[in-house]
Amino acid sequence: MSAASVVAASASEATAPLPERSGGFQPPSTPTPLSVPTPPAGRLAAVQEMARWLRLLFETEREFVRTATTLIYRVGEPELKYLLCQHVWESAGHARFLRERGRELSGFGPTDDVRASLRQLFNEAVLPADAAVALAGFYRVLKPALHDAYRHYLAATHHLADWPSRKLVEDFLADESRHAAEIAPYLSERSGGFQPPTTPSDHRAGALRPEADSVAASVSEWLPYLTSLLASLGGLLHSPPPLLPVDLSPPLSLPPSLPLLSTTHPYTHPPTCNRGRFPTCSSVFGHDPAAVPIVRPWLTDPTTDARVIRILVYIWLMMELDAVDYLATIFFDTPHAPFDLHYDLARHLWDESRHSQFGYRQLPRLGIDLMTLEHSLDLYTILVQMTPPERYAMMTMEFEANSFPTKAHVMDRVRELNDFEADTLLAFDRNDEQNHVRSGHRWLPVMMSLFGETRSPGDFVTATRARFAELAKTYGGITPHSLPPAQRLTGEKILLLLK
Ligand SMILES: [Fe+2]
Ligand SMILES: [Fe+2]
Repeated sequence: MSAASVVAASASEATAPLPERSGGFQPPSTPTPLSVPTPPAGRLAAVQEMARWLRLLFETEREFVRTATTLIYRVGEPELKYLLCQHVWESAGHARFLRERGRELSGFGPTDDVRASLRQLFNEAVLPADAAVALAGFYRVLKPALHDAYRHYLAATHHLADWPSRKLVEDFLADESRHAAEIAPYLSERSGGFQPPTTPSDHRAGALRPEADSVAASVSEWLPYLTSLLASLGGLLHSPPPLLPVDLSPPLSLPPSLPLLSTTHPYTHPPTCNRGRFPTCSSVFGHDPAAVPIVRPWLTDPTTDARVIRILVYIWLMMELDAVDYLATIFFDTPHAPFDLHYDLARHLWDESRHSQFGYRQLPRLGIDLMTLEHSLDLYTILVQMTPPERYAMMTMEFEANSFPTKAHVMDRVRELNDFEADTLLAFDRNDEQNHVRSGHRWLPVMMSLFGETRSPGDFVTATRARFAELAKTYGGITPHSLPPAQRLTGEKILLLLK
């Protein structure tokens, strides 16, 4: 047989119907053509097949980061927000390593793009109006499918030939198991005991009753729907891969018969963020010690007791939960951002979540009852009215860039207390914030270009500042105090506590 006929035979095998044992499953296709010369079909087929699996895993982790972030400002419990930020950050790490390994393999593809069908699946996942239902969809359907996909990859690949991928996947599988255990206490009773249906066609979107502007589904309706949608994609590597390695089929697509709720119910961010059982207000900053806890002049007044300053800065840090909530809105709004942008945003999100935890965990140790400390919602309610690049510009170029002088003074005062832990937390906070401003300089122009913004970053930031001030007149100060002054933590009460 000549070389030419061997190639021809390989190509015809590749397009032949799949053997019985594959159960008709089609492996994922690389969504974009390779930019490097493709070797003759067949020679690198085993590599290309595993690269396509890795590609689908990369895209899935990427989409989880883009969409699970919409849960963060919709759930109320701070511990759950923190946990979601951690999972998003770890998932971004998985995606990054998968891409790095995938790029070593023929067939992975050179871009960060996500196939449309997978994007549609995740666009559906965010839809339930009840955050507990959406959370259950992510963690009882999509994450288990991802877990199974990793497990499948381990079973399917060659332990020695693909050793570098295997080691990564072993680690990610352990992470997925841990994520499942960590989230379990937050999955509501209503989703308890759910078993994915064995016959996906039994559960179709017709069972749902979408309302005018949101999808009001219960867990018992939503999980079968999401499961059937996932199954219509062929699952995430759930079926064994075919023996024949080269797949020339088109990218996976949803069957036209399955209606997508997101086409008629586009997701929008809620106008305010959820803080669950905790009291809320518009702002914790002010000048009246009888009304607010963070009395601005006290932060820089050299006569303020350093112990007071320590409590004030922990409150300030805890209130960075607002940064967690409004930063989390940007991922979903930038589906075409380079993955590296989302990766850095995921790190930023996790950093802000840690900063908020600094306060959330330290304040009770200093005698503060967190149920008396109102959470400030102004920044979310104003920023959610702005475009993603405007939100990001205000965050990095205004709030973070301008926080350093006051925080430097605060750090110097806190050092008087010889509180090693406080010094450590503030030092790491400062280091993180420096990185956030650097990140802002890098990514703001990219985010601006995604939205067709042609002004210079400097002009854009100046104009955005003015627009923020204007919007604040309407959307600032709209969150009433949950607690009367007598019950809420104020500057005066902090002084009494330390007497
Ligand atoms: Fe921060
Ligand atoms: Fe920050």
